[in-house]
Amino acid sequence: MKRIQIINGPNLNLLGRREPGVYGSRSFEDYLEELRQRFPDVQLDYYQSNCEGALIDCIHACGFEADGIVLNAGAYTHTSIALHDALRAVPAPAVEVHISNVHTREEFRHHSYISAACRGVICGFGLDSYRLAIEGILSFSEE
Ligand code: DQA
Repeated sequence: MKRIQIINGPNLNLLGRREPGVYGSRSFEDYLEELRQRFPDVQLDYYQSNCEGALIDCIHACGFEADGIVLNAGAYTHTSIALHDALRAVPAPAVEVHISNVHTREEFRHHSYISAACRGVICGFGLDSYRLAIEGILSFSEE
């Protein structure tokens, strides 16, 4: 069975309540149920933290075994060289995900420190960005 680790960074624990006009009104836990039903043959592990070091620890813990990492690093996307280095340190391919289209938003969201350490980037499709990232990992792990 393939194993994919989904990691959500800061403030994403508030999905459903946080700026619903930008991020929608659905909690991630609710959406995760739908993802698990959609991919019954994939073990989807989920972790969320508001702490940069905890996200790095999670990448270290899963990155040598998982078939892929789906990472929405939230605002750390735009600040964290340490997350970039953590992704580079492990063999699991990562896909950077954003719910919103960061390129249509404030300029400080246009730069990502983690894209260059990822196999691909998906943004702007709402929560469906996570499904697309999983499809991507499954297709390139077949290559
Ligand atoms: C986000 C975009 C980031 O700029 C922001 O800091 C987030 C969420 C997104 O999913 O659209 O927390 O990663």
